[in-house]
Amino acid sequence: MAWLGCFTFYFCALKAKGNRMNKIAVIGAGTMGNGIAHVFAQFGNEVNLIDISQDSLDRGIATITKNLDRQVSKERITEEDKTNTLSRIKTYTDLGEGVSDRELVVEAATENVDLKLKIFQDLDSKAPEGCILATNTSSISITKIAAVTGRPDKVIGMHFMNPVPVMKLVEIIRGYATSDEVTKTIMDASSALSKVPVEVNDYPGFVANRILMPMINEAIITLHEGVAGVEEIDTVMKLGMAHPMGPLQLADFIGLDVCLSIMNVLYDGFGNGKYAPCPLLVNMVTAGKLGIKSGEGFYSWRHGTKELVVADNFRK
Ligand SMILES: NC(=O)c1ccc[n+]([C@@H]2O[C@H](COP(=O)([O-])OP(=O)(O)OC[C@H]3O[C@@H](n4cnc5c(N)ncnc54)[C@H](O)[C@@H]3O)[C@@H](O)[C@H]2O)c1
Repeated sequence: MAWLGCFTFYFCALKAKGNRMNKIAVIGAGTMGNGIAHVFAQFGNEVNLIDISQDSLDRGIATITKNLDRQVSKERITEEDKTNTLSRIKTYTDLGEGVSDRELVVEAATENVDLKLKIFQDLDSKAPEGCILATNTSSISITKIAAVTGRPDKVIGMHFMNPVPVMKLVEIIRGYATSDEVTKTIMDASSALSKVPVEVNDYPGFVANRILMPMINEAIITLHEGVAGVEEIDTVMKLGMAHPMGPLQLADFIGLDVCLSIMNVLYDGFGNGKYAPCPLLVNMVTAGKLGIKSGEGFYSWRHGTKELVVADNFRK
């Protein structure tokens, strides 16, 4: 009966291959979207990268190329891997064209509830019926996003960490209606990218940002109250708590606009004053000081990310 074993093995292998998604769309080519496109393409998937702005797409591809170059120079991948990865990414400014034949869409557009609800309504009418719709939102309710679609069982949170090609964690968030099957498919898809998926439930901020963001906000309040300067606060947390970087530097990496949106989601979601965003954070976002992506936040990034230079506003 050895042939039966062989046949069963062959059939299962085919089935597993058949079940593996490899037509992916990523919406948003910013900080997170280009990283998500990078890892999916690096692990052999065909990726359609979609953004409303051609400039963002161009910058996204330039960032992916630069990050692949770094991986080549560190001998983590070969020059051929780099070429193959880039050849698997196509760019689109039209959502319908980009998702029409996809099996999985990962949305990584700007953190704004109304924008995400609109994108998921569009996705529901433009992506194939069986396509799983994932969102990389840092904090917005998956259940709320799912509710604007006709397929809430196929909507799930797939929360990658920044920088995506480096960070191992993917927080997988089940909405109220997300099916077991879809959860398993996305857990497996994350493992196939050599990431470690962790399943959590849908509450404001999930786990990662419910804990991280109030700490960053508290660091900004500490600065705002004049308890200590930018460098002092970051040094206390780096050397005292063994954090790889201080909370103010991390806020600049994440983007202060993203930090503010997440604090607002926590504040609205729990109705508790302890989550009120610091007025200094609100002012900086209003003034367009968003961190690395705008060139200045708590630090000045105009001369690159190698050296930490405190922004003029926070110099003593
Ligand atoms: N920055 C982080 O560290 C981080 C970490 C984890 C998750 N996230 C989440 O990832 C998502 C993206 O954040 P980001 O930091 O990459 O933002 P970003 O501002 O760097 O990029 C957002 C991109 O979305 C594009 N966009 C806006 N509206 C669009 C639309 N309708 N269709 C297509 N593209 C559109 C913008 O042009 C921009 O290129 C957010 O939900 C954020 O909360 C961010």
